[in-house]
Amino acid sequence: MKFRAIMGALCAAGLMCGVSAVQAAESVEVLHWWTSGGESKAVGVLKDDMQKQGYTWKDFAVAGGAGAAAMTALKTQVISGNAPTAAQIKGPLIQEWAQQGVLVNIDSAATDWKKNLPPEIDKIMHADGHYVAAPFSVHRVNWLYINKAALDKVGGKVPTTWPEFFAVADKMKAAGIMPVAMGGQPWQDLTLWEDVVLSQGADFYKKALVDLDQKTLTSDKMLQVFDTVRKIQGYFDSGRTGRDWNLATAMVINGKAGMQFMGDWAKGEFANANKKPGSDYICAAVPGTEKAYTFNVDSFVFFQQKGQSAATPGQLALAKTIMSPAFQEQFSLYKGSIPVRLGVSMAKFDDCAKKSYADEQTAIKSGGYVPSLAHGMAQPDATAGAITDVVTKFMNSSQDSKSAVEALAKAAKTK
Ligand code: BGC
Repeated sequence: MKFRAIMGALCAAGLMCGVSAVQAAESVEVLHWWTSGGESKAVGVLKDDMQKQGYTWKDFAVAGGAGAAAMTALKTQVISGNAPTAAQIKGPLIQEWAQQGVLVNIDSAATDWKKNLPPEIDKIMHADGHYVAAPFSVHRVNWLYINKAALDKVGGKVPTTWPEFFAVADKMKAAGIMPVAMGGQPWQDLTLWEDVVLSQGADFYKKALVDLDQKTLTSDKMLQVFDTVRKIQGYFDSGRTGRDWNLATAMVINGKAGMQFMGDWAKGEFANANKKPGSDYICAAVPGTEKAYTFNVDSFVFFQQKGQSAATPGQLALAKTIMSPAFQEQFSLYKGSIPVRLGVSMAKFDDCAKKSYADEQTAIKSGGYVPSLAHGMAQPDATAGAITDVVTKFMNSSQDSKSAVEALAKAAKTK
């Protein structure tokens, strides 16, 4: 048999198809929780890029905002010896997985990353001095989205303080518009609560949620945080139990509700519905947080594959693609975030993304750039989970602020 014929036969048998075709045979299984309209479009860019490079994309999407369900599925997969090629993991959880000895380093795909990433983010992508994670983009969490027509209808102005916020909410209520669209999962409760913590100042936020300082956690200001959250709850509808974040966003998009507290993945939904900032909706910093910025950086980690000691070509291609300037731009345009890679042009981005970028630069300089607790950037999983339980219990009962503060201080000691 001639060489070509042999190769053809092997290839037909699915064994060996020449160098580029060998790559074509590698399938990359990718575990993520990007399932809403905007999120799917964004992850679709990665899928297309990988397919263009000859890889087969095996989608392992586990629905559920902020990834709690995805993280449970991931643990089962890894324990049963079926680790995916890559998984959406972020913040301190990257280290926790690296300590299990199940990740591969992707240094050879990351030769120019150091100079192209903000130092605090570059650090998070490392374990034991090696790159083990690839960053997608920067989401700002402390946003308030407002339906423009609803605001205009009640003659309200964009609130910059809590009294102004309650004034607008009262006007909306009086006009028969549901003031605040709220979803009903623990992470959504924590997202709102950390916004209110931030409104007491970035230093307060850092002392409370990054340093877990007991004095700050039990302070009068923390009592006020719970009181304010309780007051905001008075503007929710009664149907929020189990509601997904994107359904709450849809209520603001279609004018059923006036406002939503949510990170800027919500902007991906507005964009997907062809809504424009300024004319259809407004993105404003959460009242009292204009100068601060809670960051949330999505990333993928790469699991050691059966029979492989190092990263596979598919894993390195994924990492390279994620950090490439063209991907960084298109992904964030769909996702609502801003590129994490430094120097990517913001020309094609909308005014909300431009504001996010400008506010990020200001916050980094002023010390107002803080990691989001609700989105896995500030604390190890166990601590974040214990605090989430306290906040969720408070928001789903009639518990008083004082006993919630006591429970919070105790939960913060969870390791
Ligand atoms: C992730 C986002 C995602 C959001 C809602 C956040 O924790 O960082 O990428 O869009 O959850 O699922």
